[in-house]
Amino acid sequence: MMRVLSGIQPTGRFHWGNYFGAIRQYIDLQDGNEAYYFIANLHALTTIRDHAALWQNTIDAALDLLALGLDPERATLFVQSDVPEVSELTWLLMTGTPLGLLERCHAFKEKKAKGLTADAGLFTYPVLMAADILAYGSHLVPVGEDQVQHIEVCRDLAGSFNHAFGEVFVLPKAKVLEHAARVPGTDGEKMSKSYNNTIEIFEDPKSARKKVMRIVTDSRPMGEPKVPETDHLFQLYSLFAAAADREAMADLYRAGGFGYGQVKKALADAAEGYFAEARVKRLELAAHPEKVREVLGDGAQRARARAQQTLQRAQEACGIKAKS
Ligand code: ADP
Ligand code: TRP
Repeated sequence: MMRVLSGIQPTGRFHWGNYFGAIRQYIDLQDGNEAYYFIANLHALTTIRDHAALWQNTIDAALDLLALGLDPERATLFVQSDVPEVSELTWLLMTGTPLGLLERCHAFKEKKAKGLTADAGLFTYPVLMAADILAYGSHLVPVGEDQVQHIEVCRDLAGSFNHAFGEVFVLPKAKVLEHAARVPGTDGEKMSKSYNNTIEIFEDPKSARKKVMRIVTDSRPMGEPKVPETDHLFQLYSLFAAAADREAMADLYRAGGFGYGQVKKALADAAEGYFAEARVKRLELAAHPEKVREVLGDGAQRARARAQQTLQRAQEACGIKAKS
C-alpha cells in the first residue's frame, strides 16, 4: 500500500486554488492508500507572528479540511507541531544540507530578489518540509506545482543521508494534478493569498459572488468567438461544472454571441452549489470543537508512532544512538 502525505499551512482561510490544487487530491487519495495530512503550523510561524491568528487559523484549517471530506476514519489528520520527532529529524538532515541547495529554493530567492532580509526559518523551510515527508516514509506527496521544487530537495537530502549512513529513508514523489496545477485568481494571475486575488471556499456566498462578478476579463467585443481553453474565467468554470455543462459553455465561447456577465453568473452558481454540502457540515463541526480536538489528538498519536520509528532508525544509522 502507498503511503501518501501532505501538509498545508494555516496562513489564512483556504481558497479555491488550495482546494483544486491540493485539498481535493488529499480527499481522493485517502481511499486505497495509507494517508497522512497535517496542518503545517511550524511552517506558518515563519510568516504569522501573532498568537491568536496562528491558533485560530489552525482550528479553521482543521474544520475546513474535515468539512470538505477529509475523513479521520480513512486518513490521519494532525497538527505538525504535535509530532516533535520531526523537528529533531530536521536537525539530522540540516547537518547534511548544502547551502546552495537552499539558496536556489524559490521562497528564499524571491524574498532576496526583492531586497528583503530572510530569517533562518524561511531559509531552512525546505529542510523541515523534507523531515515532514521522510518521517512517515511517504511515497507520494500531493501538492500544487509550486511545491515540486521542495520535494526535489527532499529527495536530494534523503538520497545523501542514505548514501552516507545506509538505506533509512524512502524517496518520495510529488503528485501534481495537471489540470488544476495553477488555478487562476480574480485578476487572472495564479490565485494566492499573497496576491490578494482569492475567493475563499467558505466565504459567504454573497461576497464570493461579488468577487466573481469583478473577475477581470478582456475587452473582447460581444459576438466575437473566443478560445475557451485559454480564458481564465472558463478555466474557473470548468473546475466546478459538470462535463456536459462545461462542453455547452465551451461551445458558447467558440460560437461567440455571449457576454462575460453570463459566464460569471454561471460560475457563481456552480461554485455555490459545489460547496453547499460542505458549508452545512462545517457549521455542524464548528459547534463541537471537542470532537475536532479529539480527531487531531488521535491523529497526532498515530503520526507520532510512525515518526518515532523513522527517527530511531535515522539516529541509529548516523551514530546518535547505539544500533539496536
Ligand atoms: P497561497 O499561495 O495562497 O499562500 P499555499 O502556498 O499555502 O497557498 O498553498 C497550499 C497548497 O495549495 C499547496 O499545495 C499549493 O501548491 C496549492 N495551491 C495554492 N494556490 C494554488 C493555485 N492557485 N492553484 C493550484 N494549487 C494551488
Ligand atoms: N510547504 C507547503 C506549502 O506551503 C506545506 C508543507 C509543509 C508540506 N510540509 C509539507 C507539503 C510536507 C507537503 C509535504 O504548501
